Amino acid sequence: MDPKILLIVYHSMTGGARQMAEAATQGARSEASVTTRLLTAIETQPDDLLAADGYLFVTPENLAAIAGLMKDFFDRCYYPVLGRIEGRPYAAMICAGSDGSNAARQLARIATGWRLRAVAEPLIVCTHAQTPEEILREKRICTEDLQRCEAQGAALAAGMSLGVY
Ligand SMILES: Cc1cc2nc3c(=O)[nH]c(=O)nc-3n(C[C@H](O)[C@H](O)[C@H](O)COP(=O)(O)O)c2cc1C
Repeated sequence: MDPKILLIVYHSMTGGARQMAEAATQGARSEASVTTRLLTAIETQPDDLLAADGYLFVTPENLAAIAGLMKDFFDRCYYPVLGRIEGRPYAAMICAGSDGSNAARQLARIATGWRLRAVAEPLIVCTHAQTPEEILREKRICTEDLQRCEAQGAALAAGMSLGVY
């Protein structure tokens, strides 16, 4: 049997969501029987979604929504794969300044449209950036939060490997 493929799609402007996605990738790769692909939202195409067996979507929350380029990814890929990825497992991770809940809700609605199956609660990491200077500065996600992301990736890959989902 071909190895299962976990596709991790992310966008990041100031590095937070990228570090989260990389930590999740590291965790997922501890599951040797699953192939983990890490792609940016910009480069991800419908065929990448079709070729995968499960997904992890990682996005900043910007203006109380998922980041624009993450939305562009969903906009480009939504109809080409609609009805062809139903039932596949997914999880979401949000990098936010102080909230993240609206981005999580929006992403869940898109995933519901695709009839994907949420296999974890959205993981939200808050950077506590408040001022414009802090918000625009390159982020450094703390070790504890990166470990949560790593565990999320590992759990998703393990579930796929065991056929739990
Ligand atoms: C234009 C803009 C709007 C933002 N809006 C929100 C918001 O609505 N809620 C929130 O919690 N954080 C908000 N933030 C903070 C980002 O979520 C935070 O900086 C996060 O680290 C971005 O992820 P990134 O480092 O991967 O780019 C905003 C940041 C920018 C640049």
